Amino acid sequence: MNDAFAREPAWDPRRFPPAVRTPRAVQTARMLLNPQGYGQSLRRRFGPVFSLRTFPYRGALVCATGVAANQAVLTDHHRFTGGDAAALIAPAVGAGSLICTPPPRHLDHRRLLLPPFHGTRVANWAQVVRDLVHARLPDLLVDGGVPVRPWAQRLTLDVILRVVLGLTDPARTAAFRHALNAFVAMGNLAALFLPKPLQRNLGPLSPGGRFHRLRTTVRDLTREEITVRRAAPDRANRDDVLSLLLDARDAYGAGLDDEQLLDELTGLVLAGHETTATTIAWTLHLLAHHPAARDDLIADLDAGSDRLLKAVVKESGRLRPAVYNAMRTAAHDTELGGHPVPRHAFVAALFPLTHLDPDLWPEPNTFRPERHVGESPVPYALTPFGGGIRRCIGVSLAHLEIETVLSELLATAVPEPAGPMEQARLVSVTLLPARGGRVRLRGRRPRPGGSRSNA
Ligand code: HEM
Repeated sequence: MNDAFAREPAWDPRRFPPAVRTPRAVQTARMLLNPQGYGQSLRRRFGPVFSLRTFPYRGALVCATGVAANQAVLTDHHRFTGGDAAALIAPAVGAGSLICTPPPRHLDHRRLLLPPFHGTRVANWAQVVRDLVHARLPDLLVDGGVPVRPWAQRLTLDVILRVVLGLTDPARTAAFRHALNAFVAMGNLAALFLPKPLQRNLGPLSPGGRFHRLRTTVRDLTREEITVRRAAPDRANRDDVLSLLLDARDAYGAGLDDEQLLDELTGLVLAGHETTATTIAWTLHLLAHHPAARDDLIADLDAGSDRLLKAVVKESGRLRPAVYNAMRTAAHDTELGGHPVPRHAFVAALFPLTHLDPDLWPEPNTFRPERHVGESPVPYALTPFGGGIRRCIGVSLAHLEIETVLSELLATAVPEPAGPMEQARLVSVTLLPARGGRVRLRGRRPRPGGSRSNA
């Protein structure tokens, strides 16, 4: 385990918020299989701050599930430090990526990365995203039930490869897609949850050996792309993130070297595509199971409005946020919600539970997009993209993708249930629909004037 795990304090009920006495393996299984239900039951028992004694934590994970505790964990950077806490995923995303960068370097680093993801720049990618959605839509419009998530993963990977790495050559895109799919497969990333000695490269057949081989393939391909782009004469005219980052300079005139770029790009590709794909899958699945909300949305889109579109995306992010938590470590002995928290303990803002707080959200388990129309939530009551200085930098791109899929798909098809509403499962830090978010798509008379974007 890396430093954050090495420093983690051992469990001591006097130094941590309360926890159930259930064995660690049982707590872990209950969390993985029913993350929202189990979390809600602990919250009812202990209040908004409690400890979870799950793997891979030696001590406990301190969980913040109320709006005040959520805000404290996300914004009080003197007490709750980001970066180191992402230790578990560092071998995958790269220790030098923004997600894994602790303060004080984090802010300078973030300033370099923000401009390419600014809303006005992202708007320039609208046509690219729309073209990629159109190219992929026929794969989804098949007879019978279809799991949306694998389809959405292919789409969001196409988008990331195009807008972040600037890939346009089909052979090169295919090589990246192949390498990345093998690398992010659960069977491979599971190596990160093994004890440190077993994560090492113990030969080609060992989990660590396989992980390192697949990682090297992805990094070699990315390194080649950096080299080619550095030498590209047309770089100044390109709109992809890699080209923009090559010329980015901080306040001292320093840019990113190739190793930093490599970590950064890997981090962006990994942080950006699975999360967005999962959100697309949940949103279509929820719409299929809520026909009144779905039909209202279709009518609103047909009328040329995006009012309900925005509300649906917010409501899906409230009820089934793709990312389960934001991780921090306690900088010193402190308190949260009146409970002690020892130095170096792992602390998580568990948004999905804050999003289900009945004091903040009446009928919290009901999908009701209209609750967001003309209303602003209490600050830190709705944080599917986190908050504070580590808030997701890909929000505008993610919204562009999700809204484009909904708008283009609902112009020609109506999602209907293809089985019961799926349970959420916790895989790593992602809240996944248990069967991929299955829907059945019924064709509809095309929207008058075509899709919104072409209207
Ligand atoms: C629906 C899709 C997405 C969701 C739900 C999501 C969620 C999140 C959350 C909750 C955080 C905060 C983590 C924390 O506070 O520790 C975060 C951070 C981040 N996200 Fe996203 N994300 C999405 C899409 C994207 C995309 C498309 C990109 C870029 C291509 C991206 C890049 C990042 C990066 C680089 C960070 C780290 C920011 C920092 O530490 O300063 N995300 N994301």
